[in-house]
Parts: sequence; structure tokens; C-alpha cells
Amino acid sequence: MTKTPPASPCRKPLRTLDPTANAVKILITGGDGQLALALARALRSAHELTLVSRRELDITDAAACQRWIGHVRPDVVLNAAAYTAVDRAESEVDLAFAVNCDGPGHLARACAGVDALLVHFSTDYVFDGHPSQRRAYREDDATAPLGVYGASKLAGEQAVASLCPAHLIFRLSWVYSNDGANFYKTMLRLAGERNELRVVADQWGVPNYAADLAATIARIATLPLDELRARRGVYHLSATAENPDHGVSWHAFATAIVAGAGLGNRVAVTPINTSDYPTAARRPAFSVLDGERARKTFGLNLPDWRDALIRCLAARASTR
Ligand SMILES: NC(=O)c1ccc[n+]([C@@H]2O[C@H](COP(=O)([O-])OP(=O)(O)OC[C@H]3O[C@@H](n4cnc5c(N)ncnc54)[C@H](OP(=O)(O)O)[C@@H]3O)[C@@H](O)[C@H]2O)c1
Repeated sequence: MTKTPPASPCRKPLRTLDPTANAVKILITGGDGQLALALARALRSAHELTLVSRRELDITDAAACQRWIGHVRPDVVLNAAAYTAVDRAESEVDLAFAVNCDGPGHLARACAGVDALLVHFSTDYVFDGHPSQRRAYREDDATAPLGVYGASKLAGEQAVASLCPAHLIFRLSWVYSNDGANFYKTMLRLAGERNELRVVADQWGVPNYAADLAATIARIATLPLDELRARRGVYHLSATAENPDHGVSWHAFATAIVAGAGLGNRVAVTPINTSDYPTAARRPAFSVLDGERARKTFGLNLPDWRDALIRCLAARASTR
């Protein structure tokens, strides 16, 4: 991982628009990730965008964060950079905290210095998903991460909130898309290779198509800065599920992926228990997020998760 940022961070904006057209100047970090790519697609036609990958801006480098933000002077920074390897984090604790806590802290200081809004992303894994949890998690429910990834993301939330007065923190769950590495893509790959998939049926959450999250985040993050400053804080963003306090199991999600891809007759999706599939990190058994606060505050609804999956599969088919 490079610690040396380019001497002159001068990558051209993806698009420069007529300044009279309310274009917002936006810097997106973690530019090769699935959420960053979706955000870039959602924002590039109407706003002035600079998308930087880890090679260009390693957010663990405090000086590089200051240099990039000082140079671009964005109105909004969308921090989509993160250490997302949930199991590997158990043995790479320092790196997980450097990227998920120190990095957001460096960005927060730099944003505060130029009066920019910092939009940061966190996770449902800040909760422990205890079996006694009978309803979707609200923003002020007690956090209790089960693993290093969740703990490092929670520490990142705290760093952002304490160092940058203008911040929005969106907690997300089960993000998938046709980019990067994610559960949806893994299921499609394995369904092409096997005639049985064994998938955990006792962990519950809500799958979220990155394109839908990005469209919602794009609408919120480009509202007038004064309005956003007054609404700073933590928000849960979640697609709609048939029973919002119940969610969907990984097994149900995998079954829908296989059926949606037209492979339901050839590939069996067999339910298994978490104990049948040991992993380095413990995961919450239930991590459905309640999106009511964001809905009320910003008046935006994310679509139904099944409808989103059909659109994601259609987007995949159209590029093959
Ligand atoms: N994926 C999920 O299911 C999920 C669920 C809940 C919340 N979230 C949150 O949503 C956000 C976006 O996640 P995602 O799914 O888009 O993850 P992703 O696809 O893994 O993208 C993360 C990006 O961050 C980059 N990165 C890693 N270390 C970096 C560093 N030191 N400096 C700059 N960039 C760095 C990675 O670069 P390389 O490509 O070079 O490694 C990668 O491109 C994260 O905050 C994540 O915690 C994700």
C-alpha cells in the first residue's frame, strides 16, 4: 500500500459544468469500490466530480488527505474508502483501524478545514444482532460490534462525528452490485460452477443494490449545505422488505439471485446454519436497519429489495 500521494494531486474533474447550474463540487474516495463507482454514476452528469482510488489517495495518509482536499476544495467529500474484509480484519486489526478509523479522522479534519460536508459510510455490523432484538435497529440503539471490522467502523463513526461539524454518516447493510466483490456476485459465479449452493439461513438482514443507495445518497448529499449541517448525524439507509422487522436471510437472498438469473431449475440452494460454516469473524444473526429517520428527514424511500435485485440482474444481462 503506497504512503506516497502524487506530488500534485491534479486529476481532472470527470466533468465540469456550467457553474450557474447548481453543480456541487464532490470528491469521492475509495474510487475502485462498488459504492464509489455507483456514486460516480449517479452524480457525474450533474455535478463536478473527482473520483480517487487508493493508489491516488490512501486515506491513512493524513498529509495526503489535507493535500487533496486543499487542492480540490470540494463542497462535499463522499468517503467510500474502507477496509471491508470482515474475516481478514480479525488478524489485521491495525490495518482495519487505520483505514476505518484513522482515515476517516484525517478526512474529517481536512473537511473541517475547508468547511466541506463529509459523508461517511458505516455498517449494520456495529450491532450484535442479539436474538432478543425483535425489531429493526434504530440509529440510537446500543452498538456492540462482534468483530474487528464492526469495531473499527464504529470507531470511524466516532472520529467523523467529533472532528467534522458538517457530517452525515449513513449505515448500510448487505451492499451488492455488478462491480467489485460481493455475495451476489459470488452466488452467481458458484451457480455457474455447481448444482448445489449451501447458504446460511439463520442470519437476517436486508440486501441493498449499490445503485439505489447511490441514487438516494446523491439526492441527499447535494441538498444545500446549511440544511445538511442542521441535519447532521447518523442515518440508516435500507431497501424495503416485506416485513421490515424481519428482513431476509442470506439463504432467501441466494435463492432469489439464482431464480432471478434463470438457474432455479439447475441449482439447488440448501439452507445451512451459521455453525455449519465457521468463519474467522462472528456476524450478527439479525442486523436489519430501520430507515425511518432518513425517510422522515429527507423524504426519500429506497425501493423493495426484490425489485432492486431484478434491476441489478437486468443491468448485468445487458452488458453480457
Ligand atoms: N459491502 C457491504 O456489504 C457493506 C455493508 C455495510 C456497509 N458497507 C460500507 O459501505 C462502504 C463502501 O463499501 P463497498 O462495498 O463499496 O466496499 P469495497 O467495494 O470493498 O470498496 C472499498 C474501497 O476502499 C478502498 N480502500 C481500501 N483501503 C483504502 C485506503 N487506505 N485508502 C483509500 N482507499 C482504500 C479499496 O481499495 P482497493 O480496491 O484498492 O482495495 C476499495 O476500492 C464502506 O464504508 C463499507 O464499510 C459495506
